[in-house]
Amino acid sequence: MTLAPFLRALGGERIDPPPVWLMRQAGRYLPEYRAVRAEAGGFLDLVLDPPRAAEVTLQPLRRYDLDAAILFSDILIVPWALGHGLRFAEGEGPVLPPLDEAGLAQLSLAQAEGRWAPVIETVARLSARLPSSVPLIGFAGSPLTVAAYMIDGRGGAFARTRQLIAASDRLLDQVLDVLVEASIGYLLAQVAAGARAIQLFESHGALADAASLSRLVIEPTRAIVAAIRKAHPAVRIIGFPRGGGAWLAAYAAGTGVDAVGIDTATPMEEACRVLPQGIAVQGNLDPELLVAGGAELDAAVRTLRTAAGRRPHIFNLGHGITPQTPPAHVARLVDVLRRPT
Ligand code: CP3
Repeated sequence: MTLAPFLRALGGERIDPPPVWLMRQAGRYLPEYRAVRAEAGGFLDLVLDPPRAAEVTLQPLRRYDLDAAILFSDILIVPWALGHGLRFAEGEGPVLPPLDEAGLAQLSLAQAEGRWAPVIETVARLSARLPSSVPLIGFAGSPLTVAAYMIDGRGGAFARTRQLIAASDRLLDQVLDVLVEASIGYLLAQVAAGARAIQLFESHGALADAASLSRLVIEPTRAIVAAIRKAHPAVRIIGFPRGGGAWLAAYAAGTGVDAVGIDTATPMEEACRVLPQGIAVQGNLDPELLVAGGAELDAAVRTLRTAAGRRPHIFNLGHGITPQTPPAHVARLVDVLRRPT
């Protein structure tokens, strides 16, 4: 059996044209997603409903010739499973109770496994249905990113998290320890159920400053990568340190990931220049170009392919697909990418 192109690229092979998947490839820009989401009720109801979560994971693969599927879930399922409250307010995003000492003491690793079980069932269903040429990506948020939502209670400027970082407050280190342990258990369960690769979303890693980067971003991520590798040496791991353009090389070397997701703010040439040898790059088309479409999109797809130069490259966006994206533009992207140049 030949290994899927996506896994070969993660293993360090340069493939032309590059394998492609897109962050948020399942989501509100697809009418069939909106229909299933409406049937399920809320976003969390959908995530915790294995047949429907598997269905929306597969929807983009029916439309487009993509090289990987990503589990339909959310990074905030881990705090939810630990017993921290979570709701998704319509048009507002996630809302959580701001974490304090009492809230920290109530987080329960023991109950988490039972609470995230529906997500693991979704992974098992998908693994049974996907062809080996289209591997399933499991994921978790990296600890600092998830902690920031728990501490501030919502997305935005994360003022309280910044204060705790500036004050070297113990609460932050304690919650990071809990999240490292929970994320390891959660990801190992996804791999056991059939996920072939893992992505760690560090969407708010830029909250760390130079003095705390190692303690808050690199070390927790390294611990997760090491634990997964020890149990499953063949599983490939992608780190996505959004906003981490200034410390990509330190992140790659310090965490031990196989590939680094590049955000929209970092030029691909620069990422390729600074990253250690052998590390694959993933990214980084601007999602706004996908909204706009047209000749500009075509040109950007070709330019990005060239920019990744000699690195093993997985074509992706620099951040998730936005709800305003016309589905036909995604088809166009895949088509232009596959066309011989
Ligand atoms: O990429 C995929 O297709 C897989 C599924 C996935 C979702 N969220 C589905 C989702 C993944 C990998 C995530 C990761 C995630 N979730 C991140 C990291 C990536 C990033 O965006 O930086 C973060 C920070 C979250 C937390 C989160 N979840 C926010 C801030 C929001 C609200 C923003 C929004 O787009 O509404 C969500 C909700 C969410 N997660 C939706 C989807 C499809 C929209 C929910 C809906 O249907 O209303």
